[in-house]
Amino acid sequence: MTDLHLSLDRSAGRLAAQIAAGFRAAVRSGRLTAGTRLPSSRDLARDLDVSRGVVVTAYEQLTAEGFLIARRGDGTRIAPLARPDEEAAPPRPGAPQRPGAAHGPGAPARPDGPAPVYDLTPGRPDLSAFPRERWIATARTALRTLPHDALGYPDPGGVAVLRAGLAAYLGRVRAAHADPGQVVIMNGVAHGLSALLALLRGAGHGALAVEDPTSVRQLPMMESAGLRLVRVAVDGEGLDVAALARSGARAVLVTPAHQYPTGVVLSAARRAALIAWARRVDGLVLEDDYDAEFRYDRDPVGCLQGVDPERVVLLGSVSKSLAPALRLGWAVAPPAVAARLCEHRAGTDLGAPVLEQYALAEFIAAGGYDRHLRTMRRRYRARRDALAAALELHLPDARVHGVSAGIHLYVELPAGCDETAVVARAARAGVAVAGARSMWSPERARSAPPALVLGYAGLGETRLVKAAELLGQAVTHGADG
Ligand SMILES: Cc1ncc(COP(=O)(O)O)c(C=O)c1O
Repeated sequence: MTDLHLSLDRSAGRLAAQIAAGFRAAVRSGRLTAGTRLPSSRDLARDLDVSRGVVVTAYEQLTAEGFLIARRGDGTRIAPLARPDEEAAPPRPGAPQRPGAAHGPGAPARPDGPAPVYDLTPGRPDLSAFPRERWIATARTALRTLPHDALGYPDPGGVAVLRAGLAAYLGRVRAAHADPGQVVIMNGVAHGLSALLALLRGAGHGALAVEDPTSVRQLPMMESAGLRLVRVAVDGEGLDVAALARSGARAVLVTPAHQYPTGVVLSAARRAALIAWARRVDGLVLEDDYDAEFRYDRDPVGCLQGVDPERVVLLGSVSKSLAPALRLGWAVAPPAVAARLCEHRAGTDLGAPVLEQYALAEFIAAGGYDRHLRTMRRRYRARRDALAAALELHLPDARVHGVSAGIHLYVELPAGCDETAVVARAARAGVAVAGARSMWSPERARSAPPALVLGYAGLGETRLVKAAELLGQAVTHGADG
């Protein structure tokens, strides 16, 4: 049997996560190569003196991330794409809402008038849950301990303590492969994306592939980046990688953990195919990890960047985990791309505000960020459950997608419903929701089923149930009349 040299720290708990991390490290270092057959879960469990369920959980997680392949009759093996330097071609340094902007992506323009009683427009966390007191305490600590020198012009890539803190955090929580030097602090995912698009254009890219549907908030920025946008279909497994390969683009923006807006999780096969595509075309995958902190029914699938750090740029922010108003985010990029992003910041805006960066670093280091996320996960899960159950009751003919993660649901309305009319009737009843039509390309919008995108983070369970009832009436009354 392969000697895996996995060591476990039993006092630290989370044994399945430790086993998974050990495998990822072994694959990245080249100690475990593609095709290597792994011991059965029973054998490994005996070897490590853990229960078999712990090993099964670790194997399932790694399979979902594309590190392992499990085939009936052939056991579990290291996936052929799990190690970046196994491709024939050696990887070269990587090349590099419309309406309702005040609300969420795809939020409808709100006519002047009374604010909705039930606001289910997507894109915002529960803003009333921002940990104000703890943030004040952390910011005070950060300011008190900051050397005077830190108040000068900052490192345009971000303050060192935050880059290191995020590298460790993203490695632990998202299975990212991050060295602090590869982490560049940006003002959110949107800022990271616009900077990367400028770099791509400078590096000679002519096109950017984008999922169809996608977040309308980011579309205008992408449209003005000077790249031809190619919309690529999303199906039940996520981005259609075969269609991407036909598109001619060598860069793609994707939301693998929870497609926006449909909520589909990119399948293991598609993850592998996407990485293979990027290597084949010498391309770059821009991974928008916008709501990855929120997973309810299973462990989070690790980010794609952890599978091939030379081909993927991970983009994330605190917009959904804390508040969009902080405008704090990050890009984790291949070293050459990270260096160019730092130059870009130095040449455009001289870097991000320093006090907020120190405060976030302190918040993460002191465990406040983890604690806040644990609380919010519980809260959002209860809200999701309440809304999903109420929709089943009041809109039994609708199909609800994307329930396992994030802070919104994608609700396909019964065929024949007039989406625009439903959104308008709901608004008159005091329920603000986003129609999905504007998130599709004009070509696909014609055939896409009518759908709503419902953000549930900001309303308590009782209000969500009432909103679903009113929404049900907005749909059925239209059908009657
Ligand atoms: C899918 C998606 N990605 C990225 C963003 C932008 O996030 P940020 O606030 O981090 O710029 C949004 C905004 O709502 C979004 O919906």
